[in-house]
Amino acid sequence: MTDEKRRSTGYHMGAVDTVISVDDVNEQARQMAEPVELSKIAGLANNDPFVQIDGLRAGYGKMEILHDINLQVAKGQSLCLIGPNGAGKSTILHSIFGFTNIFGGSITVGDAGMRKDVTNLSPNQKLKEAGIAYILQDKSVFPGMTVEENLWMGGYLMETQEEAKQAAERVFDKYDRLAQRRKHQAKVLSGGERRLLEISRALVMNPDVLLVDEPSIGLEPRFIDMVFEILDDLQHGDGKTIIMVEQNAKKGLEFADIGYVLVSGELAIAGKGDELLENPEVGRLFLGG
Ligand SMILES: Nc1ncnc2c1ncn2[C@@H]1O[C@H](COP(=O)(O)OP(=O)(O)OP(=O)(O)O)[C@@H](O)[C@H]1O
Ligand SMILES: [Mg+2]
Repeated sequence: MTDEKRRSTGYHMGAVDTVISVDDVNEQARQMAEPVELSKIAGLANNDPFVQIDGLRAGYGKMEILHDINLQVAKGQSLCLIGPNGAGKSTILHSIFGFTNIFGGSITVGDAGMRKDVTNLSPNQKLKEAGIAYILQDKSVFPGMTVEENLWMGGYLMETQEEAKQAAERVFDKYDRLAQRRKHQAKVLSGGERRLLEISRALVMNPDVLLVDEPSIGLEPRFIDMVFEILDDLQHGDGKTIIMVEQNAKKGLEFADIGYVLVSGELAIAGKGDELLENPEVGRLFLGG
């Protein structure tokens, strides 16, 4: 790229060598893309996928954002998606949960021999019938409701309110920190407690798969560590399968078993989380190294 071009795409007026513009990150990320073999994707999931995406093409309206995406993660594993803004990371989670238009490909969930095609299920069906929960981002709690009322909302798909309340009690048993604040309005919670409430609300339905979009966003560092500890316990203690998007690529890749780099709606790199952490190109573009 010419100096002229670099200057014109930079976000700032000064030296462009030190800061990489979003356009440059996109371009350079595209250049480092390598064809990701299906055997590699399967191998990372120990050839025993619990969630499997094959040749997914999906987007919003008529616009295709994701092109031929493959993804596999085993039961009890975690996978982190990283990549530039607008790459389609959230759109992958949206597609798994049923918020996008799917133009091609499939999404299946379940153990070998009991796999279920969930490609065209609605979000409610995903949650109730397929055990997939989507953890909504910040500001999704109902501020005027108490903590316990917020948790009951997590069970809105259950047959009776009693069932939802019992399920909420199981979550309170797990998180004393929330239980102590059950009668408080959600708006008085700290940022970290609010995130815990968002995660907990998704747990009311006892899902197998957690889709988590940017768990650390907007949190102070001490709460970021707390959230990753909670996710760690859900994965390793409770055997949940976790698919997350994390802007803090270092945190995300340190946490996850598997890392995918997504660029312009396509899979650019796939590897073990720690392999991606050591990849110099990934480091330069996404880890601030
Ligand atoms: N609801 C929507 N309707 C139309 N287009 C959308 C919608 N949500 C996202 N897009 C578009 O889809 C593309 C991918 O967006 P997506 O949110 O998946 O990116 P991302 O990788 O999660 O980015 P970020 O890091 O900024 O969160 C973008 O071009 C975006 O403008
Ligand atoms: Mg996003």
